[in-house]
Amino acid sequence: MAKSKSNGFFCQNCGHESSKWMGQCPACKEWNTFVEAPSKLVSASGKIKNPARMQELKKPTSIEEISMTNEERMKTKIKELDRVLGGGFVPGSLLLIGGDPGIGKSTLLLQVCKGLADQGKSVLYISGEESLKQIKLRAERIGSFTNDLRLLCETNIEIIEDTIRETKPEMVVIDSIQTIFSEEISAAPGSVSQVRQVTAQLLQISKGLEVTIFIIGHVTKDGAVAGPKVLEHMVDTVLYFEGDRHASYRILRGVKNRFGSTNEIGVFEMRSKGLIEVENASEFLLSGKPENASGSIVTCSIEGTRPILLEIQALVCNSNFGIPRRQATGADFNRVNLLMAVLEKRVGLSLSASDAYVNIAGGIKISEPALDLGIALAIVSSYKNKAVPEHVFVFGEVGLSGEVRAVNMPEQRVKEAIKLGFTTCLLPKACERAVKHCKGIEFQFVNSVTDAVAFLF
Ligand code: TYD
Ligand code: MG
Repeated sequence: MAKSKSNGFFCQNCGHESSKWMGQCPACKEWNTFVEAPSKLVSASGKIKNPARMQELKKPTSIEEISMTNEERMKTKIKELDRVLGGGFVPGSLLLIGGDPGIGKSTLLLQVCKGLADQGKSVLYISGEESLKQIKLRAERIGSFTNDLRLLCETNIEIIEDTIRETKPEMVVIDSIQTIFSEEISAAPGSVSQVRQVTAQLLQISKGLEVTIFIIGHVTKDGAVAGPKVLEHMVDTVLYFEGDRHASYRILRGVKNRFGSTNEIGVFEMRSKGLIEVENASEFLLSGKPENASGSIVTCSIEGTRPILLEIQALVCNSNFGIPRRQATGADFNRVNLLMAVLEKRVGLSLSASDAYVNIAGGIKISEPALDLGIALAIVSSYKNKAVPEHVFVFGEVGLSGEVRAVNMPEQRVKEAIKLGFTTCLLPKACERAVKHCKGIEFQFVNSVTDAVAFLF
Protein backbone atom coordinates (compact mmCIF):
# COMPACT_ATOMS: atom_id res chain seq x y z
CA MET A 1 0.00 0.00 0.00
CA ALA A 2 1.24 3.49 -0.79
CA LYS A 3 2.04 5.60 2.21
CA SER A 4 3.10 9.15 2.67
CA LYS A 5 6.72 9.43 3.69
CA SER A 6 9.18 12.24 4.32
CA ASN A 7 11.08 13.21 1.22
CA GLY A 8 14.07 14.56 3.10
CA PHE A 9 15.09 18.05 4.15
CA PHE A 10 16.61 21.00 2.38
CA CYS A 11 18.09 24.39 3.14
CA GLN A 12 15.81 27.33 2.49
CA ASN A 13 18.74 29.57 1.81
CA CYS A 14 20.76 27.67 -0.77
CA GLY A 15 18.66 24.63 -1.59
CA HIS A 16 21.14 22.06 -0.25
CA GLU A 17 19.40 18.72 0.24
CA SER A 18 19.93 16.22 3.02
CA SER A 19 18.19 13.11 4.28
CA LYS A 20 18.17 14.36 7.86
CA TRP A 21 17.52 17.67 9.56
CA MET A 22 20.55 19.76 10.43
CA GLY A 23 21.00 22.87 12.52
CA GLN A 24 23.59 24.39 10.21
CA CYS A 25 23.65 23.99 6.47
CA PRO A 26 26.96 22.41 5.42
CA ALA A 27 26.85 24.21 2.07
CA CYS A 28 26.07 27.84 2.93
CA LYS A 29 26.78 27.68 6.68
CA GLU A 30 23.46 29.35 7.57
CA TRP A 31 21.76 28.32 10.79
CA ASN A 32 18.17 27.09 11.20
CA THR A 33 17.41 27.06 7.50
CA PHE A 34 16.50 23.39 7.10
CA VAL A 35 12.86 22.51 6.44
CA GLU A 36 11.17 19.31 5.48
CA ALA A 37 10.45 18.80 1.80
CA PRO A 38 6.85 18.11 0.85
CA SER A 39 6.06 14.41 1.01
CA LYS A 40 5.46 12.55 -2.18
CA LEU A 41 3.66 9.32 -2.77
CA VAL A 42 6.13 6.63 -1.91
CA SER A 43 5.51 2.94 -2.47
CA ALA A 44 6.03 0.36 0.26
CA SER A 45 9.41 -0.57 -1.17
CA GLY A 46 10.55 3.03 -0.69
CA LYS A 47 10.47 3.92 -4.39
CA ILE A 48 8.66 7.03 -5.49
CA LYS A 49 5.76 6.15 -7.73
CA ASN A 50 6.15 7.71 -11.10
CA PRO A 51 2.74 8.33 -12.66
CA ALA A 52 4.28 8.49 -16.12
CA ARG A 53 5.51 4.89 -15.77
CA MET A 54 1.99 3.64 -15.22
CA GLN A 55 0.98 4.92 -18.63
CA GLU A 56 1.88 3.27 -21.86
CA LEU A 57 5.55 3.21 -22.71
CA LYS A 58 6.52 5.96 -25.12
CA LYS A 59 8.68 5.02 -28.09
CA PRO A 60 11.78 7.04 -28.96
CA THR A 61 11.45 8.78 -32.33
CA SER A 62 13.90 9.95 -34.94
CA ILE A 63 14.16 13.61 -35.87
CA GLU A 64 12.71 12.87 -39.33
CA GLU A 65 9.51 11.53 -37.80
CA ILE A 66 8.72 14.61 -35.78
CA SER A 67 6.04 16.60 -37.50
CA MET A 68 6.55 20.34 -37.36
CA THR A 69 3.74 22.78 -37.12
CA ASN A 70 4.98 26.08 -38.36
CA GLU A 71 6.51 27.54 -35.24
CA GLU A 72 4.93 30.96 -35.24
CA ARG A 73 6.42 33.59 -33.05
CA MET A 74 4.34 36.16 -31.28
CA LYS A 75 5.52 39.68 -31.77
CA THR A 76 5.37 41.96 -28.78
CA LYS A 77 5.30 45.07 -30.97
CA ILE A 78 8.33 46.34 -29.05
CA LYS A 79 11.06 45.99 -31.67
CA GLU A 80 14.00 46.09 -29.28
CA LEU A 81 12.49 43.29 -27.19
CA ASP A 82 11.52 41.23 -30.23
CA ARG A 83 15.10 41.37 -31.44
CA VAL A 84 16.49 40.24 -28.10
CA LEU A 85 14.03 37.34 -28.16
CA GLY A 86 15.08 36.41 -31.69
CA GLY A 87 12.03 37.77 -33.50
CA GLY A 88 9.27 37.49 -30.92
CA PHE A 89 8.58 34.78 -28.39
CA VAL A 90 7.53 31.21 -29.00
CA PRO A 91 4.03 30.44 -27.66
CA GLY A 92 4.14 28.18 -24.63
CA SER A 93 7.56 29.31 -23.46
CA LEU A 94 8.59 30.34 -19.99
CA LEU A 95 10.60 33.54 -19.82
CA LEU A 96 12.42 35.11 -16.92
CA ILE A 97 13.22 38.78 -16.77
CA GLY A 98 15.52 39.87 -13.99
CA GLY A 99 16.74 43.24 -12.81
CA ASP A 100 17.27 45.53 -9.87
CA PRO A 101 14.16 46.81 -8.12
CA GLY A 102 12.88 50.01 -9.73
CA ILE A 103 14.66 49.50 -13.03
CA GLY A 104 11.41 49.25 -15.00
CA LYS A 105 10.55 45.56 -15.27
CA SER A 106 6.88 46.05 -14.43
CA THR A 107 6.68 48.96 -16.85
CA LEU A 108 8.26 46.98 -19.68
CA LEU A 109 5.95 44.01 -19.20
CA LEU A 110 2.88 46.18 -18.92
CA GLN A 111 3.91 47.63 -22.27
CA VAL A 112 4.34 44.11 -23.65
CA CYS A 113 0.83 43.33 -22.38
CA LYS A 114 -0.43 46.43 -24.14
CA GLY A 115 1.25 45.41 -27.38
CA LEU A 116 -0.36 41.96 -27.26
CA ALA A 117 -3.75 43.16 -26.07
CA ASP A 118 -3.78 45.64 -28.96
CA GLN A 119 -3.40 42.65 -31.30
CA GLY A 120 -6.48 41.08 -29.71
CA LYS A 121 -4.60 38.48 -27.66
CA SER A 122 -5.90 37.76 -24.19
CA VAL A 123 -3.37 38.64 -21.52
CA LEU A 124 -3.38 38.13 -17.76
CA TYR A 125 -1.19 40.29 -15.54
CA ILE A 126 -0.77 38.83 -12.07
CA SER A 127 0.76 41.09 -9.49
CA GLY A 128 1.78 40.09 -6.02
CA GLU A 129 3.46 43.40 -5.36
CA GLU A 130 1.05 46.14 -6.22
CA SER A 131 -2.63 46.82 -5.79
CA LEU A 132 -4.93 47.12 -8.80
CA LYS A 133 -5.03 50.88 -8.26
CA GLN A 134 -1.24 51.15 -8.43
CA ILE A 135 -1.18 49.15 -11.65
CA LYS A 136 -3.86 51.39 -13.10
CA LEU A 137 -1.83 54.46 -12.21
CA ARG A 138 1.13 53.07 -14.12
CA ALA A 139 -1.04 51.93 -17.00
CA GLU A 140 -2.47 55.43 -17.36
CA ARG A 141 1.01 56.79 -17.97
CA ILE A 142 1.66 54.20 -20.66
CA GLY A 143 -1.53 54.64 -22.67
CA SER A 144 -4.96 53.17 -23.18
CA PHE A 145 -5.62 49.45 -22.76
CA THR A 146 -8.25 47.24 -24.30
CA ASN A 147 -10.34 44.76 -22.33
CA ASP A 148 -8.11 41.92 -23.50
CA LEU A 149 -5.79 42.73 -20.62
CA ARG A 150 -7.00 41.34 -17.30
CA LEU A 151 -5.39 42.11 -13.98
CA LEU A 152 -5.25 39.98 -10.86
CA CYS A 153 -3.66 40.55 -7.47
CA GLU A 154 -2.77 37.13 -6.13
CA THR A 155 0.18 35.44 -4.45
CA ASN A 156 -1.00 31.85 -4.13
CA ILE A 157 0.28 29.69 -6.99
CA GLU A 158 -2.54 27.16 -6.64
CA ILE A 159 -5.16 29.89 -7.14
CA ILE A 160 -3.12 31.35 -9.99
CA GLU A 161 -3.04 27.94 -11.66
CA ASP A 162 -6.80 27.56 -11.38
CA THR A 163 -7.33 31.05 -12.74
CA ILE A 164 -5.10 30.37 -15.75
CA ARG A 165 -6.92 27.07 -16.40
CA GLU A 166 -10.26 28.84 -16.28
CA THR A 167 -9.54 32.03 -18.20
CA LYS A 168 -7.12 30.44 -20.74
CA PRO A 169 -5.08 33.55 -21.55
CA GLU A 170 -2.42 33.47 -24.28
CA MET A 171 0.12 35.21 -22.14
CA VAL A 172 0.58 35.58 -18.40
CA VAL A 173 2.88 37.92 -16.49
CA ILE A 174 3.91 37.03 -12.95
CA ASP A 175 5.11 40.13 -11.10
CA SER A 176 7.22 39.04 -9.20
CA ILE A 177 8.25 35.45 -8.52
CA GLN A 178 9.56 36.46 -5.09
CA THR A 179 6.06 37.28 -3.86
CA ILE A 180 4.34 34.09 -5.04
CA PHE A 181 4.12 31.09 -2.72
CA SER A 182 3.00 27.51 -2.86
CA GLU A 183 1.05 25.93 -0.02
CA GLU A 184 3.04 22.73 -0.46
CA ILE A 185 6.12 24.29 1.09
CA SER A 186 6.27 25.92 4.48
CA ALA A 187 9.13 28.27 3.60
CA ALA A 188 8.57 32.00 3.27
CA PRO A 189 7.83 33.51 -0.16
CA GLY A 190 11.03 34.58 -1.87
CA SER A 191 13.14 31.83 -0.33
CA VAL A 192 14.98 29.57 -2.72
CA SER A 193 12.74 26.59 -2.10
CA GLN A 194 9.54 28.57 -2.69
CA VAL A 195 10.87 30.25 -5.81
CA ARG A 196 11.98 26.89 -7.16
CA GLN A 197 8.69 25.19 -6.40
CA VAL A 198 6.60 28.01 -7.87
CA THR A 199 8.70 28.13 -11.03
CA ALA A 200 8.40 24.36 -11.45
CA GLN A 201 4.63 24.72 -11.20
CA LEU A 202 4.62 27.58 -13.69
CA LEU A 203 6.72 25.47 -16.05
CA GLN A 204 4.10 22.73 -15.96
CA ILE A 205 1.33 25.23 -16.57
CA SER A 206 3.10 26.86 -19.51
CA LYS A 207 3.98 23.56 -21.20
CA GLY A 208 0.67 21.89 -20.35
CA LEU A 209 -1.65 24.69 -21.40
CA GLU A 210 0.60 26.24 -24.09
CA VAL A 211 0.51 29.63 -22.50
CA THR A 212 3.50 31.93 -22.51
CA ILE A 213 4.52 32.99 -19.02
CA PHE A 214 6.77 35.94 -18.28
CA ILE A 215 8.27 35.75 -14.79
CA ILE A 216 9.67 38.89 -13.22
CA GLY A 217 12.47 38.26 -10.73
CA HIS A 218 14.34 40.73 -8.58
CA VAL A 219 18.07 40.44 -8.59
CA THR A 220 19.42 39.85 -5.12
CA LYS A 221 22.48 41.43 -3.59
CA ASP A 222 24.89 38.97 -5.21
CA GLY A 223 23.44 39.74 -8.62
CA ALA A 224 21.79 36.39 -9.30
CA VAL A 225 18.06 36.03 -9.73
CA ALA A 226 16.54 34.76 -6.47
CA GLY A 227 19.80 33.66 -4.97
CA PRO A 228 22.03 31.02 -6.51
CA LYS A 229 20.72 31.08 -10.07
CA VAL A 230 18.03 28.62 -9.16
CA LEU A 231 15.71 29.61 -11.97
CA GLU A 232 17.90 30.01 -15.00
CA HIS A 233 18.06 26.32 -15.90
CA MET A 234 14.30 25.86 -15.60
CA VAL A 235 13.12 28.55 -17.98
CA ASP A 236 13.46 28.84 -21.76
CA THR A 237 14.70 32.37 -21.91
CA VAL A 238 16.49 34.62 -19.44
CA LEU A 239 16.63 38.35 -19.94
CA TYR A 240 18.29 40.92 -17.71
CA PHE A 241 17.19 44.49 -17.54
CA GLU A 242 20.07 46.67 -16.45
CA GLY A 243 21.18 50.25 -16.36
CA ASP A 244 21.86 53.03 -13.96
CA ARG A 245 18.73 53.85 -12.00
CA HIS A 246 19.69 57.50 -11.96
CA ALA A 247 20.14 57.71 -15.71
CA SER A 248 17.22 57.26 -18.07
CA TYR A 249 18.46 54.55 -20.43
CA ARG A 250 17.99 50.85 -19.79
CA ILE A 251 19.60 47.86 -21.46
CA LEU A 252 17.81 44.58 -21.97
CA ARG A 253 20.22 41.70 -22.40
CA GLY A 254 19.47 38.16 -23.49
CA VAL A 255 21.47 35.75 -21.31
CA LYS A 256 19.88 32.47 -22.31
CA ASN A 257 17.55 31.75 -25.18
CA ARG A 258 16.41 28.29 -26.24
CA PHE A 259 14.79 29.76 -29.34
CA GLY A 260 17.35 32.22 -30.60
CA SER A 261 20.74 33.74 -30.08
CA THR A 262 21.84 35.34 -26.86
CA ASN A 263 24.09 38.39 -26.56
CA GLU A 264 21.56 40.59 -28.31
CA ILE A 265 20.77 43.75 -26.47
CA GLY A 266 17.87 46.16 -26.62
CA VAL A 267 18.17 49.75 -25.54
CA PHE A 268 15.35 51.69 -23.95
CA GLU A 269 14.91 55.06 -22.40
CA MET A 270 12.64 55.64 -19.40
CA ARG A 271 10.46 58.66 -20.02
CA SER A 272 7.42 60.01 -18.27
CA LYS A 273 5.23 57.88 -20.55
CA GLY A 274 7.01 54.60 -20.01
CA LEU A 275 9.89 53.00 -21.87
CA ILE A 276 10.75 54.30 -25.31
CA GLU A 277 12.89 52.24 -27.70
CA VAL A 278 16.26 53.67 -28.65
CA GLU A 279 17.10 52.52 -32.13
CA ASN A 280 20.37 54.36 -32.55
CA ALA A 281 22.18 53.29 -29.42
CA SER A 282 25.58 54.60 -30.58
CA GLU A 283 24.36 58.15 -30.99
CA PHE A 284 22.75 57.88 -27.61
CA LEU A 285 25.86 56.61 -25.85
CA LEU A 286 28.14 59.17 -27.48
CA SER A 287 25.95 62.16 -26.68
CA GLY A 288 27.67 64.31 -24.10
CA LYS A 289 31.19 63.25 -25.09
CA PRO A 290 33.56 66.03 -24.06
CA GLU A 291 35.52 67.77 -26.81
CA ASN A 292 39.30 67.91 -26.66
CA ALA A 293 39.47 66.25 -23.28
CA SER A 294 42.33 63.92 -22.52
CA GLY A 295 41.53 60.36 -21.51
CA SER A 296 38.48 60.01 -23.74
CA ILE A 297 38.33 57.79 -26.80
CA VAL A 298 35.60 56.19 -28.91
CA THR A 299 35.59 52.48 -29.60
CA CYS A 300 33.13 49.93 -30.90
CA SER A 301 31.70 46.82 -29.35
CA ILE A 302 29.57 44.17 -31.04
CA GLU A 303 26.60 43.12 -28.95
CA GLY A 304 24.97 40.13 -30.60
CA THR A 305 24.69 41.27 -34.19
CA ARG A 306 24.72 44.94 -33.46
CA PRO A 307 27.71 47.28 -33.40
CA ILE A 308 27.61 49.89 -30.68
CA LEU A 309 29.97 52.82 -30.46
CA LEU A 310 30.90 53.89 -26.97
CA GLU A 311 33.17 56.25 -25.19
CA ILE A 312 35.89 55.00 -22.88
CA GLN A 313 37.18 57.41 -20.31
CA ALA A 314 40.31 57.10 -18.24
CA LEU A 315 41.72 59.25 -15.52
CA VAL A 316 45.31 58.70 -14.44
CA CYS A 317 46.67 60.82 -11.61
CA ASN A 318 49.38 60.70 -8.99
CA SER A 319 48.73 58.40 -6.12
CA ASN A 320 48.88 59.83 -2.62
CA PHE A 321 49.11 56.46 -0.94
CA GLY A 322 51.55 53.62 -1.10
CA ILE A 323 49.26 51.36 -3.03
CA PRO A 324 47.82 53.01 -6.15
CA ARG A 325 44.08 52.87 -6.58
CA ARG A 326 42.65 51.16 -9.63
CA GLN A 327 39.00 51.21 -10.55
CA ALA A 328 36.99 50.04 -13.54
CA THR A 329 33.33 50.86 -14.13
CA GLY A 330 31.67 49.04 -16.99
CA ALA A 331 34.92 47.41 -18.12
CA ASP A 332 36.46 44.28 -16.64
CA PHE A 333 38.70 45.24 -13.70
CA ASN A 334 41.24 42.47 -14.28
CA ARG A 335 41.47 43.33 -17.95
CA VAL A 336 42.22 46.95 -17.08
CA ASN A 337 44.99 45.83 -14.71
CA LEU A 338 46.42 43.59 -17.41
CA LEU A 339 46.40 46.40 -19.97
CA MET A 340 48.15 48.70 -17.52
CA ALA A 341 50.85 46.09 -17.03
CA VAL A 342 51.26 45.85 -20.82
CA LEU A 343 51.56 49.64 -21.06
CA GLU A 344 54.13 49.66 -18.30
CA LYS A 345 56.31 46.93 -19.76
CA ARG A 346 55.86 47.34 -23.53
CA VAL A 347 55.23 51.04 -23.98
CA GLY A 348 57.36 52.19 -21.09
CA LEU A 349 54.83 54.25 -19.15
CA SER A 350 55.48 54.33 -15.44
CA LEU A 351 52.04 53.74 -14.06
CA SER A 352 52.97 52.04 -10.83
CA ALA A 353 52.73 55.25 -8.84
CA SER A 354 49.49 56.43 -10.44
CA ASP A 355 45.87 55.95 -9.55
CA ALA A 356 43.83 54.94 -12.57
CA TYR A 357 40.09 55.04 -13.12
CA VAL A 358 38.50 53.60 -16.24
CA ASN A 359 34.88 54.14 -17.10
CA ILE A 360 32.64 53.22 -20.00
CA ALA A 361 30.42 56.25 -20.36
CA GLY A 362 26.70 55.61 -20.20
CA GLY A 363 26.78 52.97 -17.48
CA ILE A 364 26.84 50.12 -19.99
CA LYS A 365 28.82 46.98 -19.06
CA ILE A 366 30.98 45.43 -21.78
CA SER A 367 33.64 42.77 -21.49
CA GLU A 368 34.59 42.31 -25.14
CA PRO A 369 38.34 42.07 -25.86
CA ALA A 370 37.88 44.40 -28.84
CA LEU A 371 37.74 47.24 -26.32
CA ASP A 372 41.32 46.60 -25.19
CA LEU A 373 42.98 49.04 -27.56
CA GLY A 374 40.47 51.74 -26.63
CA ILE A 375 41.06 51.23 -22.90
CA ALA A 376 44.85 51.24 -23.33
CA LEU A 377 44.84 54.39 -25.47
CA ALA A 378 42.47 56.19 -23.09
CA ILE A 379 44.90 55.47 -20.26
CA VAL A 380 47.85 56.72 -22.33
CA SER A 381 45.89 59.83 -23.33
CA SER A 382 45.15 60.68 -19.72
CA TYR A 383 48.68 59.86 -18.59
CA LYS A 384 50.21 62.15 -21.22
CA ASN A 385 47.38 64.64 -20.76
CA LYS A 386 46.94 64.83 -24.52
CA ALA A 387 43.53 64.59 -26.14
CA VAL A 388 42.85 62.06 -28.88
CA PRO A 389 41.90 64.00 -32.07
CA GLU A 390 38.16 64.26 -32.74
CA HIS A 391 36.67 61.81 -35.25
CA VAL A 392 39.19 59.10 -34.42
CA PHE A 393 37.86 55.74 -33.41
CA VAL A 394 39.77 52.59 -32.44
CA PHE A 395 39.24 48.91 -31.80
CA GLY A 396 41.40 45.81 -31.38
CA GLU A 397 42.41 43.20 -28.87
CA VAL A 398 45.70 43.70 -27.05
CA GLY A 399 47.92 40.72 -26.27
CA LEU A 400 50.43 40.38 -23.48
CA SER A 401 53.40 41.26 -25.66
CA GLY A 402 51.72 44.49 -26.64
CA GLU A 403 50.59 43.24 -30.04
CA VAL A 404 47.22 44.33 -31.44
CA ARG A 405 45.21 41.33 -32.57
CA ALA A 406 42.31 40.90 -34.95
CA VAL A 407 38.72 41.00 -33.72
CA ASN A 408 35.54 39.68 -35.31
CA MET A 409 33.21 41.69 -37.55
CA PRO A 410 35.55 44.63 -38.23
CA GLU A 411 33.49 45.73 -41.21
CA GLN A 412 30.31 46.24 -39.18
CA ARG A 413 32.23 48.29 -36.65
CA VAL A 414 33.73 50.51 -39.33
CA LYS A 415 30.37 51.02 -41.04
CA GLU A 416 28.73 52.08 -37.80
CA ALA A 417 31.53 54.61 -37.24
CA ILE A 418 31.19 55.99 -40.78
CA LYS A 419 27.47 56.48 -40.12
CA LEU A 420 28.28 58.64 -37.14
CA GLY A 421 30.82 60.75 -38.97
CA PHE A 422 34.16 59.31 -37.82
CA THR A 423 36.95 59.94 -40.33
CA THR A 424 39.94 58.03 -38.95
CA CYS A 425 40.00 54.47 -37.73
CA LEU A 426 42.81 52.81 -35.83
CA LEU A 427 42.52 49.06 -36.15
CA PRO A 428 44.56 45.84 -36.16
CA LYS A 429 46.66 45.17 -39.24
CA ALA A 430 45.12 41.70 -39.40
CA CYS A 431 41.73 43.24 -40.19
CA GLU A 432 43.03 45.00 -43.30
CA ARG A 433 41.49 42.64 -45.84
CA ALA A 434 38.08 42.66 -44.25
CA VAL A 435 37.66 46.44 -44.38
CA LYS A 436 39.55 47.44 -47.53
CA HIS A 437 36.40 48.17 -49.54
CA CYS A 438 34.91 50.52 -46.94
CA LYS A 439 34.91 54.06 -48.30
CA GLY A 440 34.71 57.40 -46.54
CA ILE A 441 37.09 56.69 -43.69
CA GLU A 442 40.86 56.73 -43.38
CA PHE A 443 42.47 53.61 -41.98
CA GLN A 444 45.52 53.43 -39.79
CA PHE A 445 46.55 49.81 -39.36
CA VAL A 446 48.63 49.03 -36.30
CA ASN A 447 50.59 45.98 -35.21
CA SER A 448 51.22 46.94 -31.64
CA VAL A 449 50.13 49.33 -28.93
CA THR A 450 53.43 51.16 -29.39
CA ASP A 451 52.50 51.87 -33.06
CA ALA A 452 49.10 53.17 -31.97
CA VAL A 453 50.62 55.41 -29.29
CA ALA A 454 53.19 56.73 -31.78
CA PHE A 455 50.47 57.57 -34.27
CA LEU A 456 48.14 59.32 -31.84
CA PHE A 457 50.40 61.16 -29.42
P1 TYD B 1 8.89 49.80 -12.29
O1 TYD B 1 8.43 49.26 -13.60
O2 TYD B 1 7.92 49.81 -11.18
O3 TYD B 1 10.21 49.03 -11.82
P2 TYD B 1 10.36 47.51 -11.33
O4 TYD B 1 9.13 46.77 -11.63
O5 TYD B 1 11.56 47.00 -12.07
O6 TYD B 1 10.65 47.56 -9.86
O7 TYD B 1 9.37 51.29 -12.60
C1 TYD B 1 10.43 51.89 -11.97
C2 TYD B 1 10.59 53.36 -12.16
O8 TYD B 1 10.23 53.85 -13.41
C3 TYD B 1 9.80 54.14 -11.16
O9 TYD B 1 10.72 54.70 -10.25
C4 TYD B 1 9.12 55.21 -11.92
C5 TYD B 1 9.71 55.16 -13.29
N1 TYD B 1 8.71 55.41 -14.35
C6 TYD B 1 8.91 56.47 -15.23
O10 TYD B 1 9.87 57.21 -15.14
N2 TYD B 1 8.01 56.65 -16.24
C7 TYD B 1 6.91 55.85 -16.40
O11 TYD B 1 6.11 56.07 -17.32
C8 TYD B 1 6.72 54.77 -15.47
C9 TYD B 1 5.54 53.87 -15.60
C10 TYD B 1 7.64 54.58 -14.48
MG1 MG C 1 7.74 46.04 -10.25
